[in-house]
Amino acid sequence: MHDRNNSINEDITVNEQDFIITNAGIKMPKILYGTAWKKEKTTDLVVKAVEAGFRGIDTACQPKHYAQERVGDALKILNKKGIRRDSLFIQTKFTPLAGQDPNNIPYDKNAPLLVQVAQSFARSQSDLQTQYVDSLVLHSPLFPMSHLLEVYNAMQNLHDKGLAMQLGISNCYDLSVLKRLYEESRVKPSVLQNRFYSESGYDKEIRRWCKSKGIIYQSFWSLTANPHLLESPTIVQLALKYKKTEAQILFKYLNSQEIVPLTGTASQTHMMEDLNALAIEMSPEEYDQIGKLL
Ligand SMILES: NC(=O)c1ccc[n+]([C@@H]2O[C@H](COP(=O)([O-])OP(=O)(O)OC[C@H]3O[C@@H](n4cnc5c(N)ncnc54)[C@H](OP(=O)(O)O)[C@@H]3O)[C@@H](O)[C@H]2O)c1
Repeated sequence: MHDRNNSINEDITVNEQDFIITNAGIKMPKILYGTAWKKEKTTDLVVKAVEAGFRGIDTACQPKHYAQERVGDALKILNKKGIRRDSLFIQTKFTPLAGQDPNNIPYDKNAPLLVQVAQSFARSQSDLQTQYVDSLVLHSPLFPMSHLLEVYNAMQNLHDKGLAMQLGISNCYDLSVLKRLYEESRVKPSVLQNRFYSESGYDKEIRRWCKSKGIIYQSFWSLTANPHLLESPTIVQLALKYKKTEAQILFKYLNSQEIVPLTGTASQTHMMEDLNALAIEMSPEEYDQIGKLL
């Protein structure tokens, strides 16, 4: 995305402070709209989300969970409405074989990994009707490590050609794997997209390390895995104080920790609430109080 300040209509102005610049120099929104599990509703919801003010869209070349071609249809509609491709941050993923539906694999499963990545990316380009993506993420680590590095190398080739502006990895809960990837790569990962939940200790150590390397942590399951946080007296009290919802307080907390949450809400009210959460200003002590719950 290139536009520094994109005014869609009189009601919606996308503010400069709603973006961060990643270690690859890419302008990434502080909250992303996720498109998993939306099936035939995908196009309509993506159009609504962008019209509400979202500028970042997360998808994957994984037909089992994402109707990526319907995201592309939404981009076409948005373009006709004057919202250009380059004003949006589009992120897709390469999903290894283990994460695909065996009856609907978007590449030749018998081809070498290098070819699988190239074929998957070509499918994403065609689905999304775009030449480049702002962010290309490896959906989950492969084992052994040599396979992971082979796939990442193919992703680096796409970066070299200017087709994937930044790279990342997802579902990586083992810091040693992340460190090895970082050490062995030419194009350092810019994002880590992980499940934000108590079973992983909220990835505290991983997040600290990511911060030290300028890797931005993107969270999913932020609301669904954390009803105990949303119901905690601390968050309930802060929601009352700031006249916001508990979900908004948690999203703002995540942002204060330089975490970029994903939301896949299907509700237009929640879309607006999620975007408006960025503007909440709590005190450092209040952020600390929430931090103690994790
Ligand atoms: N890398 C991976 O393996 C992976 C895995 C899972 C997800 N993801 C990505 O992350 C995205 C988000 O998925 P998710 O698992 O975090 O859950 P989600 O799809 O965002 O679901 C959130 C749930 O919380 C509800 N909700 C209630 N209040 C809300 C509010 N104020 N704002 C937003 N939602 C509210 C939503 O209901 P309403 O619809 O009624 O608002 C929805 O049922 C996915 O679409 C996908 O792009 C990636």
